[in-house]
Amino acid sequence: MRDRLLQLLTATDSFVSGQEISTKLGISRTAVWKHIEELRKNGYELEAVPRKGYRLTHAPDLASADEIKASLHTEHFGSSIVYKKKVTSTQEVAHELARNEAEEGTVVVAETQYKGKGRMNREWHSPSGTGLWFSLIVRPDIIPQKAPQLTLMTAVAVTEGVMEATGIQAQIKWPNDILIDGKKIAGILTEMQSEPDRVQAIIIGIGLNINQQVEHFPEELLPKATSLALENDGVTYQRAVVISAILKRLEQWYLHYLQHGFKEVRERWESLAVTIGRQIKATTMKETVSGVAEGITEDGVLLLKKQDGTIEYIYSADID
Ligand code: BTN
Repeated sequence: MRDRLLQLLTATDSFVSGQEISTKLGISRTAVWKHIEELRKNGYELEAVPRKGYRLTHAPDLASADEIKASLHTEHFGSSIVYKKKVTSTQEVAHELARNEAEEGTVVVAETQYKGKGRMNREWHSPSGTGLWFSLIVRPDIIPQKAPQLTLMTAVAVTEGVMEATGIQAQIKWPNDILIDGKKIAGILTEMQSEPDRVQAIIIGIGLNINQQVEHFPEELLPKATSLALENDGVTYQRAVVISAILKRLEQWYLHYLQHGFKEVRERWESLAVTIGRQIKATTMKETVSGVAEGITEDGVLLLKKQDGTIEYIYSADID
C-alpha cells in the first residue's frame, strides 16, 4: 500500500486529492490520512491543503524496498527486494537466498556492508547510506562458460542507468569498472552457482558511489574514485531512483540477451568502453603488457595488440 501511495505522490509535482488517493488505492479517507502520517514519521515532508489534497515536498534518501518500488518500472527485476540495514556482503545474503530457491529478479540491497567484496578478493568500501550496494539473482539457461557475458551486460546496463538517472556521461573500463571523467564510480562482481554444464544462479553484485562527499572516501581512494554527487557539485541524488533506472536497463538487456544472444551487448559495451582503441598497460599476475586494446572476444577477454603486431589475450588484469 505504502509504495502505491508513494507512486501516486511522486508521479506529480502538484497536489493529489485525498479522494483520488482513496479511490485509486481502494481505502477509506481515514486510512489515507494514517498512511500519510506514517510517511511523515519516516522523514517525508508533505504539504496538506484543504480541498486540494497532499503534495510531496521532500522525500528522504532511503534505498528501502518501498522507496525502490515507488520508482521501479520493471516486470520482474526487483519484484522481490530484500532490504537490510547492515550485512556482511549483499553477495553472501543473495547466495544464501539463491541456494534456497529465491526467484529470478530477487534483489538484495543494504545500507552498509562490513565485508563488502570487490574483484580479486579486494575489500569494497561501503559507507552507510551513501551508495548503492546491491546484488541481483538471475537464473539464465546458459552454460557456465558464458557467465562472463553477463558481467559485460551488467556494465552496459549500469552505465546506461547512471546516464539516464543523472545525465552525467559515464564510460566502461575493462573488465567492468564504470568511470566518470576517468574516476571509478561503480564496480561489478558476478559470482555463479552452477552444475558442470548448467548455470543454477548468477549473483550480480553492484557497488555504486552515489552521495559520498570527499570526507567519505579513504585518502588512498580519492585520486581514483568518485561519486555521482561529487561529479554534480556536491548535490545528492535519490538512491532509489538511480537503482530503479539501473534495474530497468538490466532487465531490458537481460531479456534481449536471452532472446538474441551476446552480439548487441558486445557492440554496445565496445561503444561505451573507454579502453577500446587506446594504448594501455595491462598488469596481470605474471607481467605487464603494453599495447592497443582492440576489442573483446565473445567471452569478454580483452584483445591487446602489441607493438610487434601480435595479439595478447588478457583474461584478468589491472588496466592503466
Ligand atoms: C569491484 O571490485 O570493482 C567490484 C565491486 C563490487 C561491489 C559490490 S557492492 C554489492 C555487492 N556486495 C559485495 O560484497 N560486493 C558487491
